[in-house]
Amino acid sequence: MAHRLEQLRDEALREIESATDEQALETTRVKYLGRSGSIASWGEQMKALAKEEKPVIGKLLNEVRNAVTAAIETRNAQFRLQQESGALAKIDISLPGTPHEIGSLHPLHQMHERAIQIFRRMGFAVAEGPDIETEWYCFDALNTPPDHPARNEQDTFYLSDGRLLRTHTSTVQIRAMESAQPPLRMIAPGAAYRRDELDATHSPQFHQIEGLYVDEDVSVADLKGELEFFLRELFGSGTEVQFRPHYFPFTEPSLEVYVRSKALKRGEQWIEVAGCGIVHPAVFEAVNKARGDKAYDPEKWTGYAFGLGMDRLAMILFEIPDVRLFAQNDLRFLRQFA
Ligand code: PHE
Repeated sequence: MAHRLEQLRDEALREIESATDEQALETTRVKYLGRSGSIASWGEQMKALAKEEKPVIGKLLNEVRNAVTAAIETRNAQFRLQQESGALAKIDISLPGTPHEIGSLHPLHQMHERAIQIFRRMGFAVAEGPDIETEWYCFDALNTPPDHPARNEQDTFYLSDGRLLRTHTSTVQIRAMESAQPPLRMIAPGAAYRRDELDATHSPQFHQIEGLYVDEDVSVADLKGELEFFLRELFGSGTEVQFRPHYFPFTEPSLEVYVRSKALKRGEQWIEVAGCGIVHPAVFEAVNKARGDKAYDPEKWTGYAFGLGMDRLAMILFEIPDVRLFAQNDLRFLRQFA
């Protein structure tokens, strides 16, 4: 006849098998394996056994305890599996998913990055300056006297403390020269502000890339060659570039830059994209005055500077008809550049 312990084991296994949920199973576990459960109480009874019986019954007790423990674990796992597949059954995997919208770079930002990439290859480092400036950086240091029309209340946004929103990125020329010795080769991309009426081609906030190269014997030939290289890298090798005489207080001679390319939608039309010129000696003198030294001696150093209209370049490159689109945040527009 089977030992009483074996009967107990078979009883426990039957009960475990017929447990209908986790709670019933737990009750069964406590009943057989709990501290005062029927299997545990055999541990106590062992003490009363004869010496030669002890190892035999001890071994059996271990086997029974292990068998019951394993059966409970198996049954528990079955319950968990049932629950999981029950939950899964409620999910309709044929439903369409929820797409996560991934943003993309604004076309002006893309334009910035392309331009910076080209200029980096040409050895230009990126410099920065603030949008809110003093009259010194925006005008005085750039040889633009107080009676110059650009300084008029009607043309510039002044703050009540006398500072202003920079009307061009040329301010960064001065900041860069104040903090670094020549030779110097820098670009400064950023926003600029003027009191312009808002229409398809004008905006009170626009964007420029300023460029400045100071070295010995810098000439108009350098300026033309490097701007031509940049514009052909950007718009394609078939791009024609034209320089027309102009006037800026801070360069002499001064030029305006026009591009035309059959590859571009505007076809035969010349489009103005930049102002540029050879740095005026008065600008170097102003920088020297601010620095308190002669680092930018106009007898020794020469330089060229340019200011490219970023919005204009982006409009040509991406065939955008209206500058206002850049600021309207219309997703139908922005998605075309994703
Ligand atoms: N700052 C000028 C403008 O905004 C452009 C320019 C930059 C011209 C550098 C000459 C040299 O129109």
